[in-house]
Amino acid sequence: GSGIKLAGVGSSVPEKFLTNDDLAQLVDTSDEWIISRTGIKKRHILSEGESLGSHAAAASRRALEMAGVAAEEVELVIMATSSPDDLFGSATTVQAAIGATGAAAFDLTAACSGFVMGLVTGAQYIKAGTYKTVLVIGADALSRYIDWRDRGTCILFGDGCGAVVLRAQEGSCGLLGIDMHSDGNGMRHLNCAFAGEPMKPLSSGDASKQGAYNNLHMNGQEVFKFAVRAVPTVIEAALADAGMEKQQIDWLVMHQANMRIMSSAADRLGVPPERVVSNLSQYGNTSAASIPLALDEAVRRGDIKPGEVLAMAGFGAGLSWASAIVRW
Ligand code: ACO
Repeated sequence: GSGIKLAGVGSSVPEKFLTNDDLAQLVDTSDEWIISRTGIKKRHILSEGESLGSHAAAASRRALEMAGVAAEEVELVIMATSSPDDLFGSATTVQAAIGATGAAAFDLTAACSGFVMGLVTGAQYIKAGTYKTVLVIGADALSRYIDWRDRGTCILFGDGCGAVVLRAQEGSCGLLGIDMHSDGNGMRHLNCAFAGEPMKPLSSGDASKQGAYNNLHMNGQEVFKFAVRAVPTVIEAALADAGMEKQQIDWLVMHQANMRIMSSAADRLGVPPERVVSNLSQYGNTSAASIPLALDEAVRRGDIKPGEVLAMAGFGAGLSWASAIVRW
């Protein structure tokens, strides 16, 4: 099959943000509690009328520009999201907005594992020789589903978008190894379920519930325990798939959910703290967007250099967890 190159990355977040002190006005919490338990200082949130797709398009344009690829060359757009502007999918509006007129576009839903699963999916099309240029977007606006009276969840999440351009390139080995898992038995610990009653005849349904979704529900301790176990294990399995050792990891680029989860995974893998890419303090948990958002900042800062090995890991609702070992 063809070699794969990660040719560009970009990101975009809403301007508006909420600090921990802002949240302390809404619920019984404090800046000190949030920082010590999570590492989060602020999170960006869509304003009324602002779309997720506009940020996904902005992130995509930046990624294409870095890659030196014209929008017309993109053959496939995959948008990993759990909170699209439209239930029929948001990838096509992004495709139209950026002018990727020749591309097919679809959404992919795998919560906070969505970006890694989307990256792996996009890479398969290149490996198979079907497409030469694929745009993979991670985008979420979980603020749409947060109960702003629930201090256990409202402090954690923020909105944002990131995107990566994948290209076929002979001799390139952008995707070195993967490992992906799901366990639907854990859905009860983290979900955002349809609130209507689709099995009832229309006449007896509660019209006010039609189309509505529940607020995001989470059992924080269960998700925490799951993540601490799953993240190092899935990275080790992806490394084994790549035929590589832990010592070969240049950077850990994990889903940004909680500083304590990232530190514990880095400890278990023997990766020093300065090799853990983190912007969690500035954005909170942006779900499918967090990995490309962190990657984008680290690349543009000059921390991540061409040829370096990144261990990516996403984890979250589903439950789902996935790792990709990537050469930047
Ligand atoms: N401010 C102050 N106190 C709080 C807050 C808050 N914001 N939230 C909870 N508390 C209280 C609790 O009520 C509890 O009080 P009690 O002892 O009187 O009952 C106490 O703090 C401890 O609560 P815990 O839930 O045990 O706190 P914990 O240390 O586990 O931290 C947290 C909670 C931060 C949510 C942690 O469990 C966590 O990060 N879990 C992982 C969550 C995660 O990563 N989710 C995203 C997955 S990605 C996706 O797919 C969406």
